[in-house]
Amino acid sequence: MNFPQHLLGLRYLNSQNYSEIFELTDKYLSDIKDKKIIKKILSGRSVINLFFEDSTRTRISFELAEKKIGLDSVNFSTEVSSMNKGESLLDTVRNISAMYFDFIVVRHSNPGIPAMLAEMTNSRIINAGDGINEHPTQGLLDIYTLRNAFGELKGLNVCIVGNISHSRVALSNILGLKTLGANVSVCGPAPFIPRHIEGMGVKVYFDINDAIKSNDALNVLRVQLEREAGSLLTSLKEYHKYYGITKDRIKLNSKIRILHPGPMNINIEIDSDAVDLSNSLIFDQVTNGLAVKCALFNLMK
Ligand code: CP
Repeated sequence: MNFPQHLLGLRYLNSQNYSEIFELTDKYLSDIKDKKIIKKILSGRSVINLFFEDSTRTRISFELAEKKIGLDSVNFSTEVSSMNKGESLLDTVRNISAMYFDFIVVRHSNPGIPAMLAEMTNSRIINAGDGINEHPTQGLLDIYTLRNAFGELKGLNVCIVGNISHSRVALSNILGLKTLGANVSVCGPAPFIPRHIEGMGVKVYFDINDAIKSNDALNVLRVQLEREAGSLLTSLKEYHKYYGITKDRIKLNSKIRILHPGPMNINIEIDSDAVDLSNSLIFDQVTNGLAVKCALFNLMK
């Protein structure tokens, strides 16, 4: 086995790595769904979850996967740390490194913080989202969900909808899906689309109806209200009108499958009744994410 020491991004995985992850994920997913006790293969080993940004899905699923697989886990929150007394990020990391955790799971708003931790500590690092760089575990669970729904990723037409320029989820999905032979496209208003994205072999749609008609699956990104509303977008109502995923729009391609990494802005990028259609894989993504994390810890042990 040749699995990387750290999971910093999907750009570092090859197709063999994906096969290993997905094969193990199949096993963990079936145990989770059957409510079977998972073997605590990492009993006695330790992990710290360093979340410098808010999270629901990623954080909870990491914590649960860690417990299932037997890791001793510790949670760090900036709000109750000595960073509030002025301690720097660097000193915080040096102190954590001195405790010899086997794994560090880290989310930070600055791209490159997981890579810095890989240099500075003796732990295995898992990137849980670094700024606008990558969100590899989200990418893995999205791609695994597509593989389970369609059986085959090669030749699958997948369109990512929303602010591609500022999305770590989009970048990880593009890198992973391209490695596995899918046809990847993006859709959104011009300010959301990186200028040279065609150079990555990614097709661009500006019309959501065309994207729906021409693809097997849509991965719908959250409108980042804290960043985009009022600056890149003229109005949320306009965004919903031109790009919102509605029940009526889905009728353009009744077989299309819908993913969303969460958290969702209901009735902005996606309507509540679209979330509940049988086309939706949104809650499968969450279950799959738990199994993917068990598989990752197993492979990186
Ligand atoms: N998809 C995702 O990263 O969700 P959270 O921010 O809730 O972890």
